[in-house]
Parts: sequence; C-alpha cells; structure tokens
Amino acid sequence: MTFINTIESLTLEFQEDMGQVRLSFQVQEIEALRIKWMGRKGRLAHLFESLKNLSREEKPEAGKKIHSFEQQISAEISKIVEEGKEARIQAKLSSRPLDISLPVNPPSSQGSLHPITLMQEKLRAVFKGMGFAMFDGPELELELYNFTLLNIPDDHPARDMQDSFFLKNGSAQNQIPLLLRTHTSNSQIHAMLQNQPPLRVISMGRCYRVDNDATHSPMFHQIEGFVVDEGISMAHLKGTLDRFVKDLLGRDQKTRFRPSYFPFVEPGAEMDVQCTLCHGKAQGCRVCKETGWIELGGCGMIHPKVFKNLNFDHEKYSGFAFGFGIDRMAMMLYGLSDLRLLFEGDLRFQAQFPVHAS
Ligand code: DAH
Repeated sequence: MTFINTIESLTLEFQEDMGQVRLSFQVQEIEALRIKWMGRKGRLAHLFESLKNLSREEKPEAGKKIHSFEQQISAEISKIVEEGKEARIQAKLSSRPLDISLPVNPPSSQGSLHPITLMQEKLRAVFKGMGFAMFDGPELELELYNFTLLNIPDDHPARDMQDSFFLKNGSAQNQIPLLLRTHTSNSQIHAMLQNQPPLRVISMGRCYRVDNDATHSPMFHQIEGFVVDEGISMAHLKGTLDRFVKDLLGRDQKTRFRPSYFPFVEPGAEMDVQCTLCHGKAQGCRVCKETGWIELGGCGMIHPKVFKNLNFDHEKYSGFAFGFGIDRMAMMLYGLSDLRLLFEGDLRFQAQFPVHAS
C-alpha cells in the first residue's frame, strides 16, 4: 500500500469512528476516540513512525500529508467535544422539562420605599381627593419656561450661574441656554400651554440649585399646584391649602399666611404650619428656631402677566398657585434631624421605612 493510500484509508476509518461517537456523544467514547487517534501510541504516532521507512525523496511530501491529516483530526476532535457538551445539555433539558409551577424561593430581604417616595404618595392621595390631576414637567429646561414666561426678570439672581446649574453647551442645535429647573413652577407653563381652563393640577419632582448645607441640598423635591378657572379667589387658595395641611398632619393643625413676593403671583404669600414639635410654644424649640411656625413654601394668585404670556384671557380667568418643598415636609413627618440623611443612601436609615405606601 502506498503512503497516500494509507492516509486515505485512515481518513475513512476516522470518519467512521466520528460517526459512531456522534450516535451517543458519551464522554468516555469521545475520550477513547482522542486516545486512539492522538494518543502516544495512537494512529497518528504510528504514521509518523512509519515515515522513517520511506526514501529521502518520498519523505518531504509524506511529511506534509501527515501534518495536514493531524491538523484535520485535531480540529474535528475539538469540534466533537463542543458538540458533545451541547448535546448533553439538550438531552438533560428534554428529559427533565421545566416545572414552572414550582414556587420561587422567597427573597431573603425586602426593600422599602424611600421617605420621599412615601411623602409623594401621601401628597398625591390628598390632592387626588380634592380633584387635582397629575402633570409631569421636564427637569432639563429652557430659561424661557423656567424664568421668562413666569415673569421672572432678566436681572433676577436665580438667572445667575452662581445660583442655577446651566448646561455648558445649551441646546445643541441653536445654543439656547439650558438649565436644570430651579423649581417645579415650570410645570405651570407646560401644563397651561397644553391645556385650557378649568385646570386643577399638581406636579412633583426634582429641582436643582447651587446650594449645599445641613438644610439645603443641590437636588431637592418640590410640589407645585395650581388652579385656573372663572372666579377663583384668595379664599379658594386659603381653603384648599388649609384643608391640605389638615389632611396631611391632622385636624388640629394650624396654618398662617404671610404677605410675600414672587414675580409670578400677585398678591403673593408665604404659608407656614404651626411647629409639629412644640405646637407653637416656640421657647427652646430647635425645629422652628423658637418661632412656633415652620415655613412650607410660597403661594399666591397667578399674575395677569403670566396669563398674558400664555394667551389666556386674564379678564375671564383667575387662578392660584403654590410651591412647597417636599423634603422639609418628609423631615417633619418622619422626625428627621438632617436633610442629608435623605440622599446618602445609607441602608440602616432606609430600612426603617415601610415596604408599601399606605
Ligand atoms: N417657585 C417658588 C420657589 O421655588 C415657590 C413658589 C412660590 C411657587 C409661589 C408658587 C408660588 O407656585 O405661587 O421658590
């Protein structure tokens, strides 16, 4: 038999062996195949051995043939090892179908809701009860919506880089300045541009200002609310907000309104609730700094200029608006001493809060 014939018949034999292994893909059979062909005393070793019986002229050609035969065998064996793994997985899967009725293991620990989320749920429930609808405003905002349309003048300090976070490049297409909204009052503008009166709207979310100490965080939460309809007066504002505080903190909770100034309302007021710790006694109270009152936020009658900016008929319609800090409310409700606890993400703090909003 010539050398070429030998390799041909060995190739056939190898293919037959492979066919045999593919019937079952048993690990032992694959290993036996490897030893038979590539082992120390295997077929290939023999073939290399027989090289020495060839003449000088025949050797180079025969060497090349053996070498490529060896490569072929080695590649095919690696392939069949992989095929074997896959085939065994498939066999296991089909012999043991998944039991999807099996209950999963209960989680070893359960997360809880963040106090801000809990607070927002409470606010949502109280205002929903009074017929308010929810509206989401954007956190990334144009100066136009955050300031201009709210009648906040060009030289207002909030428009300064020191007080608000402006984005470096503004809006990409036209270089119009973009900033992180400094209050939720921007939602008033968006909601009024998209809807016609009568309106009764609540909007909550994150706001940003360049501020950072025990009572201020650069990111904080506000709730904004407003009502627009015919014949809305300051009495509606006071009645609604007083009712809201009583729903939240209890029937006996006292409130007061102090005149104040915000460019987008006229008249404007600051709303306070009686201190929940000292109940107005004031003396020695750290929470209200001995004033007996805690400031909740601003409110007032929507300025006719805002209505004009939005093309609302300011002769026909009037409205009130308010904007309160949610973080302070959460601190009051849950008796927290430091605002930063809310944003540090310490699980020992977080674990004290319930899993569900009630
Ligand atoms: N946007 C104001 C602020 O963040 C709060 C505010 C005051 C909102 C009066 C109002 C309002 O809607 O009427 O300081």
